[in-house]
Amino acid sequence: MNTKNMKKNTPIDHTIVSRLIKESGLPDIGSATIREIVRLVNRIQEATGERFIRMEMGVPGLEPAPVGIAAEIEALKRGVASKYPMIEGVKELKEEMSRFIKLFANIDVDPEGCIPTVGSMMGGMATFMVANRNDRTREGTLFIDPGFPVQKQQIKILGHDFRSFDVYNFRGKKLRNKLESYLKTGKVSTIMYSNPNNPTWICFTEEELQIIGELADKYDAIVVEDLAYFAMDFRKDMSKPGIPPFQPTVANYTDNYLLLISSSKVFSYAGQRIGMMIISDHLFKRRYPDLKRYYKSDQFGYSMIYGALYALSSGVSHSAQWGLRAILKEANEGRFNFVESVKEYAVRAGIMRKMFTDNGFKIVYDMDVDKPLADGFYFTFSYPGFTGSELLEELLYYGISAISLEITGSDRLEGIRACVSQTGSDRYNDLEYRLKRFHQDHGKKFFAKIT
Ligand SMILES: Cc1ncc(COP(=O)(O)O)c(C=O)c1O
Repeated sequence: MNTKNMKKNTPIDHTIVSRLIKESGLPDIGSATIREIVRLVNRIQEATGERFIRMEMGVPGLEPAPVGIAAEIEALKRGVASKYPMIEGVKELKEEMSRFIKLFANIDVDPEGCIPTVGSMMGGMATFMVANRNDRTREGTLFIDPGFPVQKQQIKILGHDFRSFDVYNFRGKKLRNKLESYLKTGKVSTIMYSNPNNPTWICFTEEELQIIGELADKYDAIVVEDLAYFAMDFRKDMSKPGIPPFQPTVANYTDNYLLLISSSKVFSYAGQRIGMMIISDHLFKRRYPDLKRYYKSDQFGYSMIYGALYALSSGVSHSAQWGLRAILKEANEGRFNFVESVKEYAVRAGIMRKMFTDNGFKIVYDMDVDKPLADGFYFTFSYPGFTGSELLEELLYYGISAISLEITGSDRLEGIRACVSQTGSDRYNDLEYRLKRFHQDHGKKFFAKIT
């Protein structure tokens, strides 16, 4: 459905938006990356003076954990800025990371395998550089999609291959055969997914994690579990150190795992670019002769630290490590309830989701196995008669920005991902007005067309 020129009277100046879309040089808005959409929307905002409802990027919309900032300032005053940190991370931080993963996920990992990275972004890159090079007969990563698009970009940059499938129709027991059909090829080095899932916010069950773990062992693949939204399945209270329920993880079902835990969302610490890589004791020590093609050692952990991370950045900003250490210590000792501090996202999601569905939009990934989707950082939506790409473009005229599911490995090409993080209660009226206008302008046309 081409509605581009149908409605000139839109909340955001139609002529300016059209011109800037054209000038952006993006051949198709649906395949634009998150950062390309950010750039386009910044330009529209500048040219029109109108503030968008920004739902394209997962920027934390909350204050950073204050204890982290204080510790960073203190570390800087102590003079850490002039000192190279150890590549594997500051000892005190590694110890708190190991405690954190024990207290909140109930798994035991030696501090040796707890390594800070420059965000989970760099954690992912380094992981692919080692884990996808451990066996010359294998080709790369199997993504359990939908997923975080830039990880596939990393794979491509490295010259690795990937396979992927949309998991929505293969939940529960059905996951086993589907997953096995890829692993049977013998070509998969790593299996990757995020949980809770970006972009759909579905959460894997224990049964599914067990299937993934068992098959990883059977086919000797490494599971890369991306826990960027650690403990943020708010249906369960995972905020109490050492007290169940814990963050579900594949680590309970296999020793072939590596976890990536971003501090960007859970601690609202995105700007400091620090995340945690947790390598199981088993994997850390494991030797893969083929690693010697790229690294001095055949040992996984050694290659990760003194091969990949050394070459990428030689460690993580010294002060940020002390900041993260202080945050983790507070959380581990029960003085900082980091889950409570981000629950606001669920409140936003509940309110915003309703505004969308009240105005003719449909939730695309609406069920989490047999339960309605929980409220969290993201949700996905569509509007009758539009592809995701068309909808994304049309919404720009209404002052709403998002990303298309097309770039996430989703089969649902009618869908768009909404991130709730940047929309506080002061913007609800704007959002509601804009959605109403959209529905007024498009609802009747669509329903007239199909009757
Ligand atoms: C699933 C997933 N993984 C990784 C990241 C990147 O995290 P970081 O900011 O720690 O690099 C994000 C950020 O949006 C994400 O959603």
